[in-house]
Amino acid sequence: MATVVKTEGIKAFSATHDWESADYEPTLPVSEMSNPITHNIDRAPASSIVKMLQDCDAQMFQEKSGAAYERLLSDQVAKSLMEVAKRVQLILKDPQDSLIVLSGCGTSGRLAFFITSGFNRELRRLNHSAVCSYIIAGGDRALFSSQESPEDDPISGALSLKKVSEGKKRVLFIGISCGLSAPFVAGQLDFCLQHPDIYTPVLVGFNPAHQARNEPIPGCTFTFRSVVTKMRELAKMQKAFLINPALGPEAISGSSRMKGGSATKILLEVVFSAAHAANFSRTPITYNGILQHMRSYGEVLDITYSQTEGIAALMEAAGRSLQCGRGVCYLSWGFLGLLSLIDASECKPTFGADYKDIRGFVGGGCKELCNKEGDLNLMGAESGIAHSDFLHDVLPCLTDKDTVLLLYSHSDDVDEVAKLARRVREKTSNMHAVYHQTDGDTVSAHDEINKLCSSTLNFIWPQSTPASMGLQHMWELSTKLLLNAVSTGAHILKGKVYQNYMIDLQVTNSKLYHRAARLLQRLSGHPKSLCEEALLKAIYQVDKLTEDIVTCNLIKHTHTARKVKKVVPLALVCLLTGYSIKEAQSHLEQKPIVREAVEACLREQTLFSGSL
Ligand code: F6P
Repeated sequence: MATVVKTEGIKAFSATHDWESADYEPTLPVSEMSNPITHNIDRAPASSIVKMLQDCDAQMFQEKSGAAYERLLSDQVAKSLMEVAKRVQLILKDPQDSLIVLSGCGTSGRLAFFITSGFNRELRRLNHSAVCSYIIAGGDRALFSSQESPEDDPISGALSLKKVSEGKKRVLFIGISCGLSAPFVAGQLDFCLQHPDIYTPVLVGFNPAHQARNEPIPGCTFTFRSVVTKMRELAKMQKAFLINPALGPEAISGSSRMKGGSATKILLEVVFSAAHAANFSRTPITYNGILQHMRSYGEVLDITYSQTEGIAALMEAAGRSLQCGRGVCYLSWGFLGLLSLIDASECKPTFGADYKDIRGFVGGGCKELCNKEGDLNLMGAESGIAHSDFLHDVLPCLTDKDTVLLLYSHSDDVDEVAKLARRVREKTSNMHAVYHQTDGDTVSAHDEINKLCSSTLNFIWPQSTPASMGLQHMWELSTKLLLNAVSTGAHILKGKVYQNYMIDLQVTNSKLYHRAARLLQRLSGHPKSLCEEALLKAIYQVDKLTEDIVTCNLIKHTHTARKVKKVVPLALVCLLTGYSIKEAQSHLEQKPIVREAVEACLREQTLFSGSL
C-alpha cells in the first residue's frame, strides 16, 4: 500500500552552486555537505567520475582571497604548521622523556599509524630513537578492518592516551578528526587540557571551529565544540594548536577518507619533514618552505590525474567485478601496501560492502607492518593480508570476473612482482598494474609484467623532486588518490551511491546514525521524527516500535545495526512506500542495485502523489 509523502526534501539543484556561499546547506558543516560538482556522479560514466574526483581534489588547493573559510594554503594554516614543526623539532633534539602521539578513528587513525610508522622508520635509519606513537580507536584490529563503534568512546580515548604516554614529561598530542566530531578524540584533547604541564594538544580537522560537533557526549561535561573553544583560547598563547582548513565537501558526502585523508597526510608530512630537515640537515623551518612543500603536493594531483583514461579503465574493470558479485584484489609491495589495505578496509562502512568485495594484500602481511599489537590474524581480523593468504585463499578460485591490481614501484623487488603476476595470469587475464618510477629508470622485469597485464598505468616522476619532499610521499599520495578513485568509482558503478550520497552506509556509530537520519529526511521529505522512527524499525526489523526499543540509547541502536544489512535503503523504501519491513526487504531483493530500488520508489511515489 502506498502512502502520500511530501517531496520537498529533493530540491532542484544547480551544479554552479558555490559551497562557500552562506546559504549553501547552511545547517551542515563543510565535511558533511554534498559537493555541487558530484551531484550527478551516480549516473556518470567512469571517465566523467574521474574528472569529477579530480575537480573535487583540486578544491583542496584553491586559494581565494577574502574567502569565507581558511584553506590549506592560508596564511594561518602555514603559521600553525611552522609552530607545530618547531615543537616536533624540540622533541627530536631532546627525545628523553618526550613523545609525539598521533591519534584518530577510522581512516584518521589508520593515517596516524601510517605517518608514525614512516617517521619512526626514517629516524631508526639514522640511528635516532623513535619518538612517535599512534593510537587508533578500537586498537590495531581497526587498522585494516572496519571498527566504527569505538569512535563514540571518549573515556577509552583518554585512557589510551594516558597509557601510551605513561612516565613521559613532555607529550605533543596530535588528534585527527576530519569532521571535528569524534568523541574518542574529544576525550583525548580534554585529557590534554587537564594536564597542560605535560601535554600540548594539536587538532587536525577540516571544518571551521564553530562547526565542530556540539552534540552532548553521554557521560561527559564537554562536547567536541567546547573542547575546540578552549583550545582556541590556548592557541593565542601557543599552548594548543588548531590546524583546520576547509577542503570543500567530499565527492561522496561525508566520505572523509577521501580529501580528509589526503589532507591529513599532506599536513602531517609537511610538519614532520620540516622538523626532520631542521634537526638533521639544519634547514630552518620557514613560512615559505612550508608553503612550497604544500604546493608541491598539488603537483601530485596533476601528475596522477593526467592519466584519466587509465584510471577510468581500472574503475570500469573493478566496477564490472563488483556488479557480478565478484571481487577486486590489490596486490602490493613495500610502503604502497599499507595504503591498499587502508583503501580496502574503508569500503565496508562507506558502501556497506563485504570484506571480500575489495581486499588488499601486502608482501609478508603483518610482519612488515610493525604495528603495536603484532599479528592481526591472531586478533580475529576478518582475513589474512599477506601474499601467502592471497595465494592460499583467493588465487585457487580466481576467474576472469575478478579484478587484480598490482601496485608497485621502482624501489620494490620487481622480479618478485613478476613472479606473482605469472601465477595470477594463469587464472585470470583481468590483471592490471600501477607502477611508479623516476625518469630514466629501466627495469626489464617490468616489460614482462606489462605484457602479462591487460592494462598498465605507469607514473613517471621527475628526478628533480623538491628537496623538502621525498619521492616516496608523492607515490603514496598518488596511490591513495588512485585507489580511492577505483574503489569509490567501482561502488558507484555497482549502484551503491545515490546522487552523491552513500545510500548503503553502515549505521554503526552516532555520527553515522545522524548522517543516515539526515539522508532519509533529504530523500523522503519526511520530518526528522518519522525518519528516525523508520531507521529504528529497519535496525530492529520490526513494523512497530516497542517501548523497549524507543527507550534504548544510541549505543544499543548502533550496536544492533551492525548485524543488519541495507538498513538505510530499507528505511527509505518503508518511508516512501508504506511497505512493511518484510515487503521492503523483498522489494530490495528483487532490485539488488540499491540506487535503482530507491529510484523506482521515488518515481512511484512522485507518480502517485501527482495523480492525486
Ligand atoms: O565513523 C566512520 C568514519 O566516518 C570513517 O569513515 C572515518 O574515517 C572516521 O569516521 C573518522 O572520522 P573523523 O576523522 O571525522 O573523526
